[in-house]
Amino acid sequence: MKTLQQTDPEVYASLHREMRRQSEGMELIPSENYVSPAVLEALGSIFTNKYSEGFPGRRYYGGQENTDAIETLAIERAKKLFHSDHANVQPLSGSPMNQAVYLALLSPGDSIMGMDLTHGGHLTHGAPVSHMGKLFNWVRYKTHPEEQGRIDFDELLALAKQHRPKIILCGYTSYPRDLDYTLFKRVADEVGAYTMADMAHVAGLIAAGVMRNPFDFGFDIMTTTTHKTLRGPRGGMILTRGKPGNPLKAVEVTRENLPTVIDRSVFPGLQGGPHMNNIAAIAVMLAEAATPEFKAYAKQVLINAKTLAAGLLAGGSKLVTGGTDNHMMVIDSMASFNLPGADLEKLLDKVAITTNKSVIPDDPRPPYSPSGVRLGTPAMTTRGVKEEGMKKIAGWILDAVSALDNEEKLKIIREEVRKFSLNYPVPGVN
Ligand SMILES: Cc1ncc(COP(=O)(O)O)c(C=O)c1O
Repeated sequence: MKTLQQTDPEVYASLHREMRRQSEGMELIPSENYVSPAVLEALGSIFTNKYSEGFPGRRYYGGQENTDAIETLAIERAKKLFHSDHANVQPLSGSPMNQAVYLALLSPGDSIMGMDLTHGGHLTHGAPVSHMGKLFNWVRYKTHPEEQGRIDFDELLALAKQHRPKIILCGYTSYPRDLDYTLFKRVADEVGAYTMADMAHVAGLIAAGVMRNPFDFGFDIMTTTTHKTLRGPRGGMILTRGKPGNPLKAVEVTRENLPTVIDRSVFPGLQGGPHMNNIAAIAVMLAEAATPEFKAYAKQVLINAKTLAAGLLAGGSKLVTGGTDNHMMVIDSMASFNLPGADLEKLLDKVAITTNKSVIPDDPRPPYSPSGVRLGTPAMTTRGVKEEGMKKIAGWILDAVSALDNEEKLKIIREEVRKFSLNYPVPGVN
């Protein structure tokens, strides 16, 4: 980055500090990961110079032979990886991706069901503070924390019959279990709703075949961010069943027309020009996610999560739902250590372990200072950490809690974490 260093030393200095922070610390935020050098190259490429409103073969700007090729490649790779009939790879991130689906299928005031935020649903799943939360009638369902987080499908069915939602949405941002898609589909069929799965967190694990794919259970729509377990650049994708058509022509909203209806909702409904450098990087990521190495990676993510959870439980931590079946876990930090999530997050920052505070089911505390902390293994698994390393990480987390006000002890832990982390280089950082 010699050019940047010379032309803008201030930005370069920040970047350099961030490289050090990432290399010398441990990333345990479950929604974060490290992209490959090839993804970084595509992302930092001259595709960023190009405007490409429209779709491959149907653009509103000239000079599209290469952007058409790259977007088509990304679409075809996404379809193959997730077994969908169609893919839209243009959403600028996860939030506009979900908004595009809602705005395609719902009118203001229509009902839609999603998981309650404190039980693991995302902000875009109808949280009252979000614009989407105000625009539609969100009916929220919950989980049973004592029964390994099982979703109460009797309640879900009763709510669905009462509110007749047009979409039943499943998926989560802070929930450590897999979902029973058959039951969601059964409820949706009873009330004539579309089924939508927001798989932002686990899409990489689905692509690798180590977690269930909602399309195998007849789902209509799957959305996913591209930057979590998938290990791509920040972006979103909408995958659908149905018959792809001409996205420049309005069509009736039907199951068969979903590809066209969704495409039109992304553009011109919600967005303008797609970020073609990002789409190029998504294409690279999708090829990487189809390799045997990625499958092995995804398996290890799950093994590592079980190992980390076991280490924390053995040290007296209480985990929401009692453990994990995916890549993440939520420590109930109030019940475990009488520490609010924000305090535990700050404490772990002191020892260079990055986590994020998180609400727990029906959290009595406010979202900015909730009762839990979310941890995940995708990032450290990318750096090559295996079970033995995960046991050490659990130990450092517990040691940091024991050393709460002991700055000297915390410094010692930080140095151990630093040495350990440097043994596992961050891809793309020399
Ligand atoms: C399940 C889920 N959906 C959507 C999003 C939104 O993604 P973004 O932050 O890219 O807008 C997230 C992000 O955390 C998520 O976890």
